[in-house]
Amino acid sequence: MGTSNHTERILEGGPAVDPHLRRGPRGFPLLPGGYGRSTYYTGAPSPYAIRGEGYRVWDDRGHELIDANNNFTSLIHGNAQPEITEAATKAIASGASWGIPNLYEWELADLLLSRLPALDQVRFANSGTEAVMSAIRIARASTGRERVIVTQGGYHGTSEVALVPGGPSYTRGVTRGVINDVTSVPLNDIEFLRQAIEAAPDSYAAIILDLLPNRAGLLSISEEFVREARRLATRYGIVLIIDETISLRLGYGGLSREYGVDPDLLTTGKLIGGGFPVGAIVGLAALMAEVDPTRPGSLPHGGTFSGNPVSMAAGAVALRLYPEDEVKRLNQLGDLTRDAVNSRILEAGWEVRGRGSLLRAVPAGATKVDEATQHRLWWATYERGLLGSPANLLSLSTPMDESIAAEIGDRLTEAVLKVAQDSPRS
Ligand SMILES: Cc1ncc(COP(=O)(O)O)c(C=O)c1O
Repeated sequence: MGTSNHTERILEGGPAVDPHLRRGPRGFPLLPGGYGRSTYYTGAPSPYAIRGEGYRVWDDRGHELIDANNNFTSLIHGNAQPEITEAATKAIASGASWGIPNLYEWELADLLLSRLPALDQVRFANSGTEAVMSAIRIARASTGRERVIVTQGGYHGTSEVALVPGGPSYTRGVTRGVINDVTSVPLNDIEFLRQAIEAAPDSYAAIILDLLPNRAGLLSISEEFVREARRLATRYGIVLIIDETISLRLGYGGLSREYGVDPDLLTTGKLIGGGFPVGAIVGLAALMAEVDPTRPGSLPHGGTFSGNPVSMAAGAVALRLYPEDEVKRLNQLGDLTRDAVNSRILEAGWEVRGRGSLLRAVPAGATKVDEATQHRLWWATYERGLLGSPANLLSLSTPMDESIAAEIGDRLTEAVLKVAQDSPRS
């Protein structure tokens, strides 16, 4: 065997140098802070993944973990689902990506629209962040207005507008102009929403809603709030964007259909790429015309890898393998898990929130959880063989059944009780 690089040594199971210790030519860690994404950060050097299969992931420290992180909810079918792997491999072997359209784009668009029959057209991007950025630009271009309404605690990725609801710690580096163009409405405060819009209805281009904001501890937006946002948007010619990057999995037609509210533009990503980079704007034809290149003066929208055949082919299989009865089954598994854990942690001052297949344990009643507590719980779950997101968001995947859900419930309960015991709330 010749000289193999670090990654090859790991894959061969041989000893590897901890990558956190590896330095670049000028002496710095290869990745800032040792991380390729800030969102991986869990307060101490993280393990790294070696391999995944179904609902399991193995890491460099020899742990076998139940994967309820699922790459931040995007792996609806778990790791390396065979039919998705086959579709992606076939697309890669056919050329991976081209500079002219490919058939898979139409296929995925068709599948998405069949689930979202109130909307007309799809444009693909590479991430939820990009989809939201473009949706806001479409809304601004079509209304000729600039201001945007968001809800506090809503997460819409890391574009500049999307950072504003996170507050001052998120908006360093964002211009005053962008900050001033965004109105953050307290979650479920209908009166605040109404007054903000009615004070200057002609200034608002868009209302953007995340129906299950993870940054607010996975509290749901109330149906009354969403219906009022719909009513005000229609009345004042504002574009209603519902960001279903994370929540599309919760209903066959996304969470907005479960609420009985149709947006003008819906943004999504994650599961619709089958585990590969993706984002999508799905919208009414009158709005999507803004990015129709056959129309003079249309908005520039591209992306070298937007609609790439690998993401499109994998995403099409992922959607086909997630029919209505699977959506229901997975949501019921989530409900069972939530009930089982809640009955054992409420007394310790914690609760599990969420909806359907998305769960998160938080101190009871919290609308914001400090990072140190999130990280303590992350390590406590990790040590018990359960992998969540650093903010403790857990998502179920279709390879899971009742026994795995029960196992997740047991491991989560133990971890929460350990954290509660170590740092009791006053
Ligand atoms: C509601 C919502 N919008 C947008 C995003 C950003 O998506 P991405 O990470 O693909 O850029 C996320 C990511 O978690 C999300 O949950």
